[in-house]
Amino acid sequence: MAWTSFPVDRFQGAIRAPGDKSCSHRALMLAGAAAGVSEISGLLEGEDVINTARAMQALGAEVEQTAPGRWRIEGTGKTGLRSPSAPLDFGNSGTGSRLMMGLMAGYDLRAELTGDKSLSSRPMARITDPLKLMGAKFAPEGRDKLPLTLSGRADLTPISYAPKQASAQVKSAILLAGLNADGLTEVTELYATRDHTERMLRSFGVDVAVRAGKGSQNVVTIEGGQSLQAVETSIPGDPSSAAFLIAGALISPSGGVVVEHIMSNATRDGFFQAAGQMGAGLGAEETGDGAGERLVDLQAETSDLKGCKIPETLVAAMIDEFPILAVIAAFAKGETRVRGAEELRVKESDRISAIVAMLRVNGVEVEEHEDGFTVMGCDGPPPGGGLVETHHDHRIAMSALVMGTASQKPVAVDDIAMIATSYPEFLDHMRTLGADIREI
Ligand code: S3P
Repeated sequence: MAWTSFPVDRFQGAIRAPGDKSCSHRALMLAGAAAGVSEISGLLEGEDVINTARAMQALGAEVEQTAPGRWRIEGTGKTGLRSPSAPLDFGNSGTGSRLMMGLMAGYDLRAELTGDKSLSSRPMARITDPLKLMGAKFAPEGRDKLPLTLSGRADLTPISYAPKQASAQVKSAILLAGLNADGLTEVTELYATRDHTERMLRSFGVDVAVRAGKGSQNVVTIEGGQSLQAVETSIPGDPSSAAFLIAGALISPSGGVVVEHIMSNATRDGFFQAAGQMGAGLGAEETGDGAGERLVDLQAETSDLKGCKIPETLVAAMIDEFPILAVIAAFAKGETRVRGAEELRVKESDRISAIVAMLRVNGVEVEEHEDGFTVMGCDGPPPGGGLVETHHDHRIAMSALVMGTASQKPVAVDDIAMIATSYPEFLDHMRTLGADIREI
C-alpha cells in the first residue's frame, strides 16, 4: 500500500522544529567520550541518532533517556572507549557510521560496523583513507563499503589532509581522530562545510582553530591529547527538517507557517537563501542561543516563486535540501538550475536520479545532469498524480509528500517507514498544519 498526500486549500500553524540530527549525533559521541556526566536536552530521537546512542553504550558509555528528548550520559573519560562485544549497527546513517569511525580510530579497540542496504552501498574510502594514514586499520583491506572492521590505536599519527570532497563527515571524522593523535591534525576543505563538530568540540572544552586557506579553502586544526569535559547542553532545531514545513507554506494556496527554534548557521542555511532568491516570503525572528548556535523562529507564507540558478557556493550549505528545493522549483515560474552537486549521487539514494524521477512521474519537466538537474517550473501547481519511488530515502519521501499538499492531483510514495530515521514527527507535524496524508 502507498501513502498519499492529497491537495489541501490551506497550510497553516506553528511547529517547534525537531532537534538537529547533525548536532544530536555529535553531542552523543562527545558526551560518551568525555569525563563526567553530560545532560542533553532536545535530542532528536530519530532512528539514526538512537543507533549512535546504542553504539556509544556498546563502547562503554552509560547512556540513558531520562525524559522525552532528555538524555544523561556518563562518558568513559580517561578509561577510554572499549571494544564492543557485538557489531555496531548504524542502520541508515552515513553521519553516525563515518563520524564514529573517526572517534573510535583514536582508541585501542576493535569494532565491526554494519548498516542497512542503503548505507552498505555508500562509499567509505573517503573516511578510511585518511584514518589509515593516521594508523587505524580496516578489514577486509581495500574494501570501500560497510561492513568493515576497524582496529584503532591510542597513538595515532596526526595528518595534514585535503579531502577531495567538501564533506563535513570527512572533516569531522579526521578531527575526531585528531583529538587522540600525537600532535597537530589539519583538514583543508575545498570550502567551509557545516561546522557543528568544531563548535561542539569547543563546548566540550577542546580548542579547535579555523582559518581561511587559499581561495575558498577553509582550514581547521586540532591539537591532539586534549580532553573532553562533560556539558549540559540543549540541541537546536534542525533547519533541514524545518525546510519541509517552510516549503509546504511557500507552495500552499493559502495560510502561513512558523517553525520555531531553528538553528541559524551560515553553513546550513543555503535552502532559505535560495528560496529567498526565488521570491519566497520568509521572515526570521531571533530568539536566543542554544549549544553555541543562534536560534530563530522562521515564518513563511504563500509565495509566487520564480526559478533561479543556484550559486555553486551555496551547495554545501544546502546539501540535504535539494529534494525539497526541486519541489518548490516545480511550482516556480521559469527554470531552476543546480550544478556542482555531484555529491548528491552518493547520499541515502542517488538523489539526482531520484529527484528527476520524482518530478517526472508528477508531470514536471526536468533535465538530469551528472552533477545536478534543471527543473522547468510549472508557474503554479504541477500536475501530480504520480507514485514516487523513494529508494529508501527519507528526504525523497518527505519532499514528495509536501509536493502532494499543493499539486493538482495527489502524490503518493511507495514507503514512509524510513522517515523515522531523521524526523519521526513529520506526519504529525504535517497534519497539524493541515496536510491530508493517508495510507491508501
Ligand atoms: C552531515 C554532513 C553531510 C550531510 C549529512 C549530515 C553531517 O554529509 O549530507 O546529512 O552531519 O556531518 P557529507 O559530509 O557527506 O556532505
